[in-house]
Amino acid sequence: MINLLTLATSFLLGSSFFELPQLTSAQDIIYCNKTTSNCPSSAPCCSSSGQCGNGTYCMGGCDPRFSFSVDACIPQPVCQSNTWDFTTDIVQSSEKYLGNATDYQWTYESYGHILDYDEGMLLAMPKNSKGTVVSSTFYVWYGKVAAKFRSSHGAGVVSAYILFSNVQDEVDLEFIGSTLEEPQTNYYFQGNLSLTHGKNLSTTNTNTNWHTYELDWTEDSLTWSIDGKAGRVLHKNETYNATTGLYAYPQTPSRIQISIWPGGDSSNAPGTIAWAGGLVDWDVSEFEDPGYLYAMLDSVEVECYDPPSGTEKNGTKSYVYKNNQKDWTSDSVMITDEDTIIGDLNGSGLDRNLDEDDDESSSSASKSSTKTASKDSTKTTAADSEETTGSDDEDSGSGSNGKTSVSSDVSDFVQYYGSVTSKAGAASGSGMVSSFMGLLALAVSCVLL
Ligand SMILES: *[C@@H]1O[C@H](CO)[C@@H](O)[C@H](O)[C@H]1NC(C)=O
Ligand SMILES: *[C@@H]1O[C@H](CO)[C@@H](O)[C@H](O)[C@H]1NC(C)=O
Ligand SMILES: *[C@@H]1O[C@H](CO)[C@@H](O)[C@H](O)[C@H]1NC(C)=O
Ligand SMILES: *[C@@H]1O[C@H](CO)[C@@H](O)[C@H](O)[C@H]1NC(C)=O
Ligand SMILES: *[C@@H]1O[C@H](CO)[C@@H](O)[C@H](O)[C@H]1NC(C)=O
Ligand SMILES: *[C@@H]1O[C@H](CO)[C@@H](O)[C@H](O)[C@H]1NC(C)=O
Ligand SMILES: *[C@@H]1O[C@H](CO)[C@@H](O)[C@H](O)[C@H]1NC(C)=O
Ligand SMILES: *[C@@H]1O[C@H](CO)[C@@H](O)[C@H](O)[C@H]1NC(C)=O
Ligand SMILES: *[C@@H]1O[C@H](CO)[C@@H](O)[C@H](O)[C@H]1NC(C)=O
Repeated sequence: MINLLTLATSFLLGSSFFELPQLTSAQDIIYCNKTTSNCPSSAPCCSSSGQCGNGTYCMGGCDPRFSFSVDACIPQPVCQSNTWDFTTDIVQSSEKYLGNATDYQWTYESYGHILDYDEGMLLAMPKNSKGTVVSSTFYVWYGKVAAKFRSSHGAGVVSAYILFSNVQDEVDLEFIGSTLEEPQTNYYFQGNLSLTHGKNLSTTNTNTNWHTYELDWTEDSLTWSIDGKAGRVLHKNETYNATTGLYAYPQTPSRIQISIWPGGDSSNAPGTIAWAGGLVDWDVSEFEDPGYLYAMLDSVEVECYDPPSGTEKNGTKSYVYKNNQKDWTSDSVMITDEDTIIGDLNGSGLDRNLDEDDDESSSSASKSSTKTASKDSTKTTAADSEETTGSDDEDSGSGSNGKTSVSSDVSDFVQYYGSVTSKAGAASGSGMVSSFMGLLALAVSCVLL
């Protein structure tokens, strides 16, 4: 019994949290994972949620193991050392991001909801929604990453701060909303189930207090710290697996991801719900006012370390997996000068669609001067937020899942929801959010099935 429960839990942690919303009817979706064949050339990229497509599917999280070919995935932008003070201005919808990591260092999934607030950016989880994931566009290999963050709260409500690679190496720090003084650490190697890698830390209430959570990740060791105090150290040499002859240690370029999600949604597996501290109570008053639960992100500071000393280099711009690699370990990665850009959301590493899309590139470049992240970036509040209603409809991405057809009503939902996100403030958000409950519920039921 206990093993079964743990198994279900671990599987969830390793895999289901990052599902992209399924915007298409079930029969159109082409799946990709270790038990299926790789993606077809017409939809060549395997997303981190195990579905084939173009565009977004070929960028952050594109899994080269199950894609049509290694080079279907767009090369991964190299690590950037900087400190980002979060406002919605520096976070682009993943449905608009075309790979320029100089323009945007952060994206949020199109189903998500981010808001400016005095004390930091909010990652919101409206009633019956999937929550929100914010991801770096660049990859860390290796580095020290510190996030100043306040978790959400409540049974079943999970806040997370992780490093996640395209071959699903993963470093986790997760906050269960019912045990707010015990953040949980974990790690995964290539998405493989691990029943025994979790360990709890101890601190003061993670919802009511700001803490700085640091992941110090080197080739040889991984240290989880809270407010400068190490809580757990993992040495690579402790992870050797004699059966495979490999170190089961996270070791490939990884994006930083910060999220809030309903681990305790009733549609999840029983083990997941138990791990998350029970069912989410969707009737708590916060879902009416302000209209959502949230995690708060103040800042992320990244100090990039050198890649492993033996790394093959033919440039400085992007990490790529080598074509002839065998085991998807750090030895499989090289550094190149290959570009990380696509021309539109039907592009892939096999055909970037750069020629057809001069409009898109220039409009993205023109925004760049005001969108650069820095320590000095000023935060906007609800009242200051820009009103950008409907003006950017034409480049909203219904085409991210290239192969499959996107039904127009659902893609309208994405566009509309995205534009709400860009103008809603923490104070004014509730009415807007609650008017989308029906649509959100629909989206969630599609996703979680
Ligand atoms: C792989 O995808 C298939 C759908 O084609 C699904 O039934 C199966 O559960 C998936 N396997 C894993 C390990 O995710
Ligand atoms: C991951 O687990 C699968 C079985 O579930 C196994 O075939 C594969 O070799 C494992 N990979 C590594 C690198 O341990
Ligand atoms: C961590 O804390 C949770 C919740 O209290 C508990 O269920 C779990 O067993 C703990 N994990 C470890 C590895 O001690
Ligand atoms: C792993 O390396 C650390 C640091 O070098 C050392 O203290 C530890 O004893 C080693 N552990 C094993 C299992 O070899
Ligand atoms: C070593 O890898 C094999 C193959 O993936 C797996 O079955 C086994 O559980 C791993 N051993 C440990 C101690 O994790
Ligand atoms: C190295 O990069 C150059 C130019 O970017 C390219 O022509 C060459 O094929 C690359 N070599 C390897 C081994 O990838
Ligand atoms: C990416 O954006 C930067 C800043 O806006 C711009 O200078 C650069 O030309 C863009 N790169 C590409 C390849 O479009
Ligand atoms: C992507 O391809 C689809 C199907 O060919 C087309 O309808 C859509 O307009 C294309 N999107 C873009 C951004 O080019
Ligand atoms: C997706 O990319 C592949 C490979 O570049 C291409 O053949 C296919 O036409 C693209 N799909 C769409 C809808 O453009």
